[in-house]
Amino acid sequence: MRVLSGIQPSGRLHIGNFFGAMRQHLQLQAEHDGFYFIADYHALTSNPAPSDIAKHTLDVAMDYIALGLDTKKTVFWRQSDVPQVTELAWILSCITPMGLLQRCTSYKDKVAQGISPNHGLFAYPVLQAADILIFHSNLVPVGADQKQHIEVTRDIAGFFNNAYGQVLTIPNEHIIESVAVVPGIDGQKMSKSDGNTIEIFEPESIVKKKVMRIVTDSTPVESPKDPEKCNVFALLKLVASSGELKDWENRYRNGGMGYGEAKKRLAELLIEYFKPYRHRRAELEKNHGYIKELLANGASRAKAVASKTLLDVRKAVGLGAYNV
Ligand code: ADP
Ligand code: TRP
Repeated sequence: MRVLSGIQPSGRLHIGNFFGAMRQHLQLQAEHDGFYFIADYHALTSNPAPSDIAKHTLDVAMDYIALGLDTKKTVFWRQSDVPQVTELAWILSCITPMGLLQRCTSYKDKVAQGISPNHGLFAYPVLQAADILIFHSNLVPVGADQKQHIEVTRDIAGFFNNAYGQVLTIPNEHIIESVAVVPGIDGQKMSKSDGNTIEIFEPESIVKKKVMRIVTDSTPVESPKDPEKCNVFALLKLVASSGELKDWENRYRNGGMGYGEAKKRLAELLIEYFKPYRHRRAELEKNHGYIKELLANGASRAKAVASKTLLDVRKAVGLGAYNV
């Protein structure tokens, strides 16, 4: 089975990205034919500074590789190194009803937030469909926020195959639901754009400081506390063993425990969890040339598959000299 997913290069990855997406990507690569890429064309829809795209692309690549992405087995590349997807996106655009895109909630949410939308943002799901379809992906592991984009992909593939024959593989979504949304230090969803993240590889002293700043309520130390309403407990769930978690749960419910104690332990556990990967991350940081080489190699493997699909699609729709 081919499993494919993409992640935007919008900054260094945080523990929400890890527990919400990366961890599953890394697990799936062992049993499947993994195709993972850094979605820099998609990132352009928010018009970042040119030097930021390049830097963040390398950061994402180093984070993934340090955490165990196996570039020998798994194909790992930068989206814009395989420009064939943009041609497929155009061809798919021409059979995609406007209404399908107008219903996309992530687009509507951004417009509601006051962002003045460009055409790329509106067409974003078509490029995502092209990413998925050009590699004949079977499974697409994504967070719940991306579920609708996979449904759109399935619809577009269906329209295409109805019109032109069975050329595209209709993927199954694989929604990652094993983890609830990871809260940031302000208690809202942890997100790069909200400045509330704990990055996977920031210096340990900063991890400690940020954990100590996590927002909690003002229940006095001696009173019982509801662990399910606590941001610190939500993060402890990700890194504590089940035995230790049970202990913390009892301590919350019994009262007599201050949030500071739970925070201190959370910082230790988070640091311990990612410690085995820190050294490798630091080594990679010293060798950007190596990362660029790995990405170039991934791009050539990805391109071989993408070019073949694109040729089939071009033939099917009547482009080029094939049908006369
Ligand atoms: P961000 O919101 O930080 O920009 P992205 O939208 O680039 O993150 O998300 C990349 C992946 O990480 C997606 O699959 C998304 O579902 C997952 N993800 C991001 N933030 C969280 C979070 N707080 N909790 C769980 N999963 C998350
Ligand atoms: N839209 C996805 C996100 O923001 C990233 C992405 C781009 C993607 N193309 C994809 C995910 C194809 C899965 C498959 O998280």
